[in-house]
Amino acid sequence: MTGELSPIDKAKFVAAKRAAEMVEDGMRVGLGTGSTAAWLVRCLAELVQEDGLRFRGVPTSTRTAELARDLGLEVISLDEARWLDLTIDGADEFNADLNLIKGGGGALLQEKIVATASDQMVVIADAAKEVENLGAFPLPVEVIPFGWQTTQALIEETLVSMDVMGRNATLRMNGEVPFVTDEGNHILDLHLGRIGNPRQLALVINQIPGVVENGLFIDICDQVVIGFADGRVEVRDINAGTVSEDRLDFVETDNLFQDI
Ligand code: A5P
Repeated sequence: MTGELSPIDKAKFVAAKRAAEMVEDGMRVGLGTGSTAAWLVRCLAELVQEDGLRFRGVPTSTRTAELARDLGLEVISLDEARWLDLTIDGADEFNADLNLIKGGGGALLQEKIVATASDQMVVIADAAKEVENLGAFPLPVEVIPFGWQTTQALIEETLVSMDVMGRNATLRMNGEVPFVTDEGNHILDLHLGRIGNPRQLALVINQIPGVVENGLFIDICDQVVIGFADGRVEVRDINAGTVSEDRLDFVETDNLFQDI
């Protein structure tokens, strides 16, 4: 290990490690995108190497696909898998109903397709991602490049009749140029502050021409694994209505940390 992990990384790591234990031999598993999901991929690679775990992964971005392949995981496409046993992914926000905002990393479209094609979706997150009301994190909306400014204007106009605090949409940039998703689209970040009715907003935004998908994940997530910097993890299952707690140890000599 080349350096001490930050408290937030420790929290993400223990959440990822606990969720990795949910993967069983023979499963087809959706692999999320983002820093927490990257920990998951490392944890799974360790289980493959150390314990002989066998599974096939469907990545939700080129970034995750590269990491998974680099670490020796078996990667297949969603069309090859057709249906998944489990998807494990991060989130930007989650609420008590396990509804989510995702897309901070720009991969929301593949993430939503993959999660929806799974028997179970498990979110891994540090405790700071839990919110009472969704919306403090800007809501990402993937739009096609053609006429994106018209799409932006339509979205802002639509927001006038929605139960939200703010209505400003900004084009996500990558330095001096617009950010481009894996599908060649752009992202508009909606600065809403608070979303009163996430279900309604998700439906209405997707009706606007030019919108490909929005980052609200409603009734998609089944469980959340919340990590804490001291090694505690809490697992909440929305369907079973259960909450369980656990504690994981940090083993600093783990192969996991060698490249960090
Ligand atoms: C990627 O597009 C996102 O949906 C991520 O899952 C989300 O942004 C969480 O990322 P971190 O794990 O890096 O916080």
